[in-house]
Amino acid sequence: MSQKPYEELGLVNTRELFKKAVAGGYAIPAYNFNNLEQLQAIVTACAETNSPVIIQVSKGAREYANETMLRYMAMGAVKMAQELGADIPICLHLDHGDSFEICKSCVDSGFSSVMIDGSAHSYDENVAVTKKVVEYARKFDVSVEGELGVLAGVEDDVSSEESHYTKPEEVEDFVGKTGVDSLAISIGTSHGAFKFKCKPGETPPPLRFDILEKIEKKIPGFPIVLHGASSIPQKYIEIVNKYGGKMENAIGVPEEQLRKATKSAVCKINIDSDGRLVVTAMIRQVMAEQPEEFDPRKYLGPAREELIELLKHKNKNVLGSADKA
Ligand code: G3H
Ligand code: 13P
Ligand code: ZN
Repeated sequence: MSQKPYEELGLVNTRELFKKAVAGGYAIPAYNFNNLEQLQAIVTACAETNSPVIIQVSKGAREYANETMLRYMAMGAVKMAQELGADIPICLHLDHGDSFEICKSCVDSGFSSVMIDGSAHSYDENVAVTKKVVEYARKFDVSVEGELGVLAGVEDDVSSEESHYTKPEEVEDFVGKTGVDSLAISIGTSHGAFKFKCKPGETPPPLRFDILEKIEKKIPGFPIVLHGASSIPQKYIEIVNKYGGKMENAIGVPEEQLRKATKSAVCKINIDSDGRLVVTAMIRQVMAEQPEEFDPRKYLGPAREELIELLKHKNKNVLGSADKA
């Protein structure tokens, strides 16, 4: 096995990306993908905006798409970006790995970064499994993200009714004992398209920037990750609902809140639901307006185009990662 299995795929780990993002007051986009069109959209948007990018795969996505297929898709992503004339760093990351075994398998197959999400365990068990993953990943210079605190919503098979905010008093000990490269925290975001219980037109409660500040005082400059950061643009909810969908009261994190977060040590922002939403909205629209179509390219193509526009907007106006490659 090569010392860094991901290097032959043209991928990078997160070290330099995070260092520059923390110093520069922006965040690296971490976009989830499961299929070809999503990945093409991510690569195109990031190439056109000259943005570094983390392409990430959940445990479920890995089962859906096949780990070997994903390895070569990531290599294809690197080549495609080059062909588009972009010299952008691309990192392939396992999102919410829930065991040492899955993290090891991803390291071995060419992922350049893994998350070990031990947040469902006790503190001590979380430390132990995270440390074990770090010790293995270190040998191959693969980055490791840990998590402290629990987000509401579904984290793969782990679902939680309520979020448990990260305890600032634990972060220094956790980072010191485990040796992680970055830390995912819980400050009020959640996974999915229904993040806050608000009435239509009401503004969701702000994120807990007070907790973030306390965390930053304990581990100054240490790379922080924000999960559950989709904004759920209402424009797409309206399209979904207009064309037979049912996504009432869907609501996300306001873009200004994310923009504010990027000015801190938050240097990786995870977005999955927004991509799913755009794709679903456009497929529903094409299917409803052109019921005779049965060529997948005719509905997946427009979905891909719209996703490119959304991701370009995020890189330029929300994460601030455009032109930071
Ligand atoms: O954090 C959760 C991600 O959105 C992945 O979701 O497990 O349904 O692929 P998934
Ligand atoms: P969203 O559901 O808000 O897109 O969050 C995705 C995420 O955190 C992936 O790990
Ligand atoms: Zn997540």
